[in-house]
Amino acid sequence: MLPSETPKTRDVGARAAGSKPIRIIENGYKDRVKDFWQGRSEVYDVNNSFHPPLCAHLVGLANPFPGSAVLDIATGTGSVAFAAADAVGPSGRVVGVDITDTMLQQAQAKADALAATNVEFQLADAEAVSFPEQSFDFILCSNGMAYLQNVPAAKFGVAPEDAGAALGSEARIRAALGAAGFKSIEVSASKEVKVFEDTTPEKFAESIFGMMERFPAAPLSQLLCQQQISELRADYMIAAVPQAETMPRRDGGIVNEFVMLWAVATV
Ligand SMILES: C[S@@+](CC[C@H](N)C(=O)[O-])C[C@H]1O[C@@H](n2cnc3c(N)ncnc32)[C@H](O)[C@@H]1O
Repeated sequence: MLPSETPKTRDVGARAAGSKPIRIIENGYKDRVKDFWQGRSEVYDVNNSFHPPLCAHLVGLANPFPGSAVLDIATGTGSVAFAAADAVGPSGRVVGVDITDTMLQQAQAKADALAATNVEFQLADAEAVSFPEQSFDFILCSNGMAYLQNVPAAKFGVAPEDAGAALGSEARIRAALGAAGFKSIEVSASKEVKVFEDTTPEKFAESIFGMMERFPAAPLSQLLCQQQISELRADYMIAAVPQAETMPRRDGGIVNEFVMLWAVATV
């Protein structure tokens, strides 16, 4: 949380039987996160060949058994939730939680189209959500940790203000999860590729700068004045465009190769 922000909470009700009321923490940061994802909800699934395979990989690692209960944190449009719903089958249960209503609307539309009976979605801040003990056999989170602030620090001993600093290597993940009391920690790495289609080195660098400019954890517009942002963009382009020119190309796009780290542990 930013120092000047005082959290206020509000009940949004709870749909899971026996669970405590769900609270949404209201402060500037959370609103920026919601704005950021509200702006992406309708396009998130369009030609998205990036997230669904990662979600499927995560579900494969966790390997939820038929009849089990799964919580999907930061479910977004539900990629993890639906893959988990397939794995747990009709006697299982999947709950997807997300802070952004419009992401959940996309997820719910998919659930309606599938007439899925074993998956439900709840609007909630994952850092304030509360379920009775032992509600779930598996808790999954794909591409969501970077947006969370307090829970891992408070509850799991992981300080994610700079998620990369706490979790950006296998050794750091092991140390953080071990210190927090998790057992049977397994960390694996996969080589991933994200193709930025129909782009040039200039457009690619612009889009990366645009993401950094709007990223809710530290939007440049809150930190710098317009003049400073313009100067920073110019410096960034001078450094980034030549680098982008050396990146692999595929079908008119630019290929970004990176390593993804995966952690599976038990409590
Ligand atoms: C990159 S999307 C990931 C969606 C999905 N897990 C996937 O991998 O396709 C990040 C999601 O995190 C959600 N999110 C961010 N902060 C959250 C919070 N505090 N509680 C619940 N969801 C949150 C956003 O609304 C967004 O839907």
